[in-house]
Amino acid sequence: MHSDKVEKTRIRLWDFPVRLFHWALVVAIGTAWWTNQEAIINIHELAGYTVLTLVLFRIIWGFVGSSNARFKSFVKSPFAAVAYLRKLPKGSEEELAYAGHNPAGGLMVVVLLLLVAVQAFTGLFTSENTFLFFDGPLVKYVPSGFANTMNYIHHANINLIYIAVGLHVVASIGYLFLKNENLIGAMITGTRKVPASIAARFNAISFKPAWQGLLILVICAGIVAAVITVARAG
Ligand code: HEM
Ligand code: HEM
Repeated sequence: MHSDKVEKTRIRLWDFPVRLFHWALVVAIGTAWWTNQEAIINIHELAGYTVLTLVLFRIIWGFVGSSNARFKSFVKSPFAAVAYLRKLPKGSEEELAYAGHNPAGGLMVVVLLLLVAVQAFTGLFTSENTFLFFDGPLVKYVPSGFANTMNYIHHANINLIYIAVGLHVVASIGYLFLKNENLIGAMITGTRKVPASIAARFNAISFKPAWQGLLILVICAGIVAAVITVARAG
């Protein structure tokens, strides 16, 4: 591959809060998926609230976080995504690398966030009435027709999550093997090796201190915990 001969340099790409968000989300969704049975519905519920907290945090970080974590830096039109994908097979890293999500990846991020938010939100209105008689915390506040619709969406939307996550993971692995670009490693370590010729693009990222993200995350957890506690008590 010609890209192996290019001189590479290590740059900083993702701040700590984004990386923590990502892998905590993977663990929380995995846990919720694994525990969607009656005996461990309490763990399912807890994992769901964790997802809710993480998504709330990520939306706020999408407005106040590091420059490449902000929605306005990576949410592009579908036309931009298509234009990017057309260039992708032949384009070099120099031509295609973004100091954040590329236009196609950015759309995928929005879709994933939406699907995961819908799953956690509808869970709040979902019931299990056969074995454990479990009600989501907001079921008692809404008409039964509304709760039934939410229940239905909770069971149907998971299939869209399978498809989106499947695509997402295949794409990440595709970059690794077909383009020799380690996006996965970057989501773990926060750094990536890129051709020295384009390092300036990444050095322009403006990072927010990690403690600000962690503080927002803790506040989000507090808000979710308070709302659920009040709803359960009411
Ligand atoms: C439940 C499963 C998963 C969900 C819901 C999910 C969701 C997301 C989201 C929302 C982002 C955007 C990160 C941000 O800007 O905050 C993202 C990025 C990313 N995810 Fe995942 N993810 C999942 C699993 C995985 C797995 C298993 C891998 C590794 C194979 C992976 C690799 C990546 C990579 C490499 C990026 C960065 C893409 C880029 O450079 O633009 N994800 N993911
Ligand atoms: C993103 C987070 C969540 C994920 C990924 C998730 C996933 C799932 C899945 C895959 C099922 C089984 C669907 C089926 O069998 O067709 C399920 C059922 C269920 N979920 Fe969730 N869920 C989440 C959040 C929540 C939350 C926050 C609650 C309640 C507080 C909740 C309550 C329930 C209940 C009561 C069931 C029915 C159990 C049953 O039918 O046996 N879920 N969820």
